[in-house]
Amino acid sequence: MQADLKTPTSVDLHDLEAAALQVLRSRSTPQQQVVRVADEAALTELRAMEVPKVGRPLREVIDEMVQKVYYHRAQADHRRFFAFVPGPCSPLSAIGDLLTSTYNPHAGNWLESSGPSAIEVQLIKWLAGNLGLPESSGGLFVSGGSMANLTALVVARDQRLPAYERSKAVAYVSEQTHSSVAKGLKIIGFLPEQIRRIKCDDRFQLDMSDLAAAIYEDKAAGRLPFAVIASAGTTNTGSIDPLPEIRRLCDQANLWMHVDGAYGASIGISPRYRHLLEGVESADSVSWDGHKWLFQTYGCGVVMVRDKSHLTASYHTRPEYLRDTETDESQVNFWDLGVELTRPARGLKLWLTLQVAGADAMAAGVEHGFQLARWAEDELKQHPGWEIVSPAQLSIVNFRFAPVGWPTPKIDALNKAIAQRSLREGYATVLTTELRGQTVLRICAIHPDATEGDMRETVRKLTDYANIEVALAAQEYSQ
Ligand SMILES: Cc1ncc(COP(=O)(O)O)c(C=O)c1O
Repeated sequence: MQADLKTPTSVDLHDLEAAALQVLRSRSTPQQQVVRVADEAALTELRAMEVPKVGRPLREVIDEMVQKVYYHRAQADHRRFFAFVPGPCSPLSAIGDLLTSTYNPHAGNWLESSGPSAIEVQLIKWLAGNLGLPESSGGLFVSGGSMANLTALVVARDQRLPAYERSKAVAYVSEQTHSSVAKGLKIIGFLPEQIRRIKCDDRFQLDMSDLAAAIYEDKAAGRLPFAVIASAGTTNTGSIDPLPEIRRLCDQANLWMHVDGAYGASIGISPRYRHLLEGVESADSVSWDGHKWLFQTYGCGVVMVRDKSHLTASYHTRPEYLRDTETDESQVNFWDLGVELTRPARGLKLWLTLQVAGADAMAAGVEHGFQLARWAEDELKQHPGWEIVSPAQLSIVNFRFAPVGWPTPKIDALNKAIAQRSLREGYATVLTTELRGQTVLRICAIHPDATEGDMRETVRKLTDYANIEVALAAQEYSQ
C-alpha cells in the first residue's frame, strides 16, 4: 500500500483508484451533527500533525484526513443546513472536480485548453440565454460571487468613468446588497463615502424614490454617479430589486447596472420562476454562483457582461512571453477577460452535472427550494409565538420568537439563544441575521433532497428550543 514516492508525481495507479473510491464513499455518509467545530483536544491533535521528512502510505494519510481533519467541518451540503447560502453540491460536481484537477488544463488560454474553453464558452452562452442576455454577452467562470462582483465592478468603472475623475465617482447599493460589493469597490480604490447605501422598502427591495433622490443630489453636488448594483436574490431575505425600474433610471442617468445574482440568478433556469427576474436581461453585467443554487462544489462563480468586449477592454494584456497564444475571433483566452492568468476550467464540473442530470432535473431542484421555504413558513404559522419578519421569498424565510411584552433586546437575545441551541443539538442548522435592527432567525433551504418532513420537524424543534429558552429566561428573572 506504500506509494512509490520516487518523486512527488509518481503514485501507484491502483492505490489512487482505491483512494478515490474511499474518499467518495466517506463523503456520502451523512453526519449526525450538521456542524462539528474542533474542540481544544482535537485542535491539539491537528496542530501536532507535522510534515514528515519521509512520506507515508497514501491510504493512511487519507484515513487521517477523513477521520480527523474533514471530520471537523460544517456539512454545508447536509439536507438541513439552512445557514448562510448552503452548498448542497452534487457528487457529480465532485467528479467534475476530479476530472478537472486530474487533467489540470491551464484554462487561461486557448492554446493550452481549447476543449475545456470551448465548453466554458458554450456553457456561459447557455446561462446567459436563460437570463435573456443578448448574443453579444460573454463572461467567465471565477471563484465565486465575490470575485464575479469585483470583476464586473472594474468593467463598470472603466466603461463609465474617465480615469482622472474617479475621485468624484459614486456607486449605489442598497441596505441589503451583499457585503462583497462594498468590499470589491474598496479593493478597486473607492472610498466608503463613494458608496451610497439606498434604503429598502418593507419587502427589502431597493427603494426607487430614495435611489432617484440620491442620484439627483449627487449630480447636483458635482459628483459622478456611475453604477447601480442591484440584487436578484438578497442574502438576507431573497428579495429581488425592481430591475426594470432600475434599468430605466440607469438609462436616464447613463449609469452601469450590475445585478448580483450570486444566489438568485439560478431561478433563471426554472421555466416556472424565471419571470421573477424580469429586467435582468437588460443588465450591463450579472454575477451568478454555481456553488450555491446550481449544486456545485466550491469555486464555481460566473460573471457575465452584456458586451463581452468590455471585459477584454479592462483585462487584456499582451506581455512578450504570452504572444504565441494570440487568438482569432472564434477562440478565447480567458486570461484576457478577468483577473486570473492561470485558472482552472471551473465551468466543466457544472457542464458535467448538467449533462448527466439534465436541465429539467436541475430546474426541478431549484424549484424545490421555493417549496421548502413555504413549508417552513406554513409550519411557523401553526405555532404561537413566532412572528414572520420576511415571508418566503425564493428559498428564504425570516422569523423570530417574540413573547408578548418582551423588550427588543431580550427578544434579540432569545433568538440568538435559539440559534445556538440549534447548533448544539445538531438536527438542523438555523442561524440569525439582522433585519430592521432586530435579530431574526433565517432559513435558506436549497437542498433538493430536503423534504416537507425536514422543514416541519425543524420548525417544531425550533419551537421546543424557544420554549426551553423562554423558561430559562423566566427562571433567571425569578432568581
Ligand atoms: C447575493 C450574494 N452575493 C455575493 C455573495 C458572495 O459570493 P461568494 O461567497 O461565492 O464569494 C453571496 C454569498 O453568499 C451572496 O449571497
